[in-house]
Amino acid sequence: MAKRKITLFLYTLILSLSVVSLAVAVRLTPVLQTQEKLSIKRPTFNQIFDTSKYGILQLNNGLAQTPQMGWNSWNFFACNIDETVIKETADALISTGLADLGYVYVNIDDCWCPTRNFEGQLVPDPIAFPSGIKALADYIHGKGLKLGIYSDAGAFTCQVRPGSLYHESDDAKLFASWGVDYLKYDNCYNLGIPPKERYPPMREALNVSGRTIFYSICEWGVDDPALWAGKLGNSWRTTDDINDSWASMTAIADLNDKWAAYAGPGGWNDPDMLEVGNGGMTYQEYRSHFSIWALMKAPLLIGCDVRNMTAETFEIVSNEEVIAVNQDPLGVQGRKVNVSGPDGCYQVWAGPLSGDRWAVVLWNRCSKANTITATWEALGLKSGVSVSVRDLWQHKEVAVDAVSSFGAQVDAHDCRMYMFTPHTTSLRNIA
Ligand SMILES: *[C@@H]1O[C@H](CO)[C@@H](O)[C@H](O)[C@H]1NC(C)=O
Ligand SMILES: *[C@@H]1O[C@H](CO)[C@@H](O)[C@H](O)[C@H]1NC(C)=O
Ligand SMILES: *[C@@H]1O[C@H](CO)[C@@H](O)[C@H](O)[C@H]1NC(C)=O
Ligand SMILES: *[C@@H]1O[C@H](CO)[C@@H](O)[C@H](O)[C@H]1NC(C)=O
Repeated sequence: MAKRKITLFLYTLILSLSVVSLAVAVRLTPVLQTQEKLSIKRPTFNQIFDTSKYGILQLNNGLAQTPQMGWNSWNFFACNIDETVIKETADALISTGLADLGYVYVNIDDCWCPTRNFEGQLVPDPIAFPSGIKALADYIHGKGLKLGIYSDAGAFTCQVRPGSLYHESDDAKLFASWGVDYLKYDNCYNLGIPPKERYPPMREALNVSGRTIFYSICEWGVDDPALWAGKLGNSWRTTDDINDSWASMTAIADLNDKWAAYAGPGGWNDPDMLEVGNGGMTYQEYRSHFSIWALMKAPLLIGCDVRNMTAETFEIVSNEEVIAVNQDPLGVQGRKVNVSGPDGCYQVWAGPLSGDRWAVVLWNRCSKANTITATWEALGLKSGVSVSVRDLWQHKEVAVDAVSSFGAQVDAHDCRMYMFTPHTTSLRNIA
């Protein structure tokens, strides 16, 4: 029995791998102006913002042209979910205006499904989800939002509910029949089978289901998914789970930074969901969390109770100028470009945007306020270039003609985030 399953599995794998190579051959061209495409290929630019892998790893399902935005139940609710919470969250995304800002995925995480029935079909918890997932999807769709669900590339989910390993085709068909728009696919109880073998069958099954479903690979960065998952998924986790602490958030930002060259329209590095609003960090720390996630082109999946946000939480997650950096069509992941000070805690993070603009974050990871300076050298700008500087948290122009460097005082664990707009051609060493 087990042997037959494995043979079948290998056969499916070979089949799906050949489909994958086909998919790569006909991949989408990233939505870019020709000129921008050229400029990100210039060698001097690539010394700082390596984009050599940009756009080469794309799942051709038309999704994720910009990082996904929405909400996920796990960080705040864990297993305490039911259809009322999900519906009220959808209502709150609409009434707060967050949906209009782009937060459209309403994603149910683990614990929605305790069992399979005699036919082997997943059955939603009859107490928590008495109306079923199809009815919930209809409700969410009725609001113009999208529904996400969760399963696992293993025998069980992390909370020991049924996993989808060897049930990929049936489960994908069921999700599609319910109108599911997004699948987060976790990595627990994986029987020691390598991720590169467990994640392709679900990619194939979702594709064959005929419904366009966002495939969010949650492999925790174990097998360096940036190197291969772009052919399979629309995003791939690069790290272990985040928790609601400064230590976790900063460590994860650094780990995710390593894979910046691999992100691009169609597939994104995923440093995990937002903790903004859950209480474990200060306002300044949450503002840094949100700014860096936006700059890194991370998925912006709110992880708090959006039915009950403080004004500060709302201010952070609703910052349109910061969201615009995340959703910029150029889709190049911003990264750490300079560190100085004790333990390298004065940091400059930056990334190019469409329209020859730059997003720049001055991030103070020390415990005392300090001035942090971004040099044009570190950003890859020609030294004589003059830029106007807009502060994306103060929502105002703070300099009209900065030349060669720009610095500001930054509070402990806080950041400042700017948009730089050069007045002339900005790239270095171009005659
Ligand atoms: C399935 O994959 C093919 C080839 O990559 C793609 O063109 C098509 O849009 C995909 N269909 C779905 C439903 O994802
Ligand atoms: C949160 O993550 C940090 C950094 O990885 C770790 O040191 C800490 O133990 C974690 N806290 C909890 C409660 O898991
Ligand atoms: C709303 O959040 C506050 C903390 O910000 C908490 O004290 C309160 O219990 C929450 N209310 C509900 C109804 O969850
Ligand atoms: C990095 O920042 C430090 C401190 O501001 C500065 O001395 C150094 O020149 C910067 N490096 C580059 C390459 O700009």
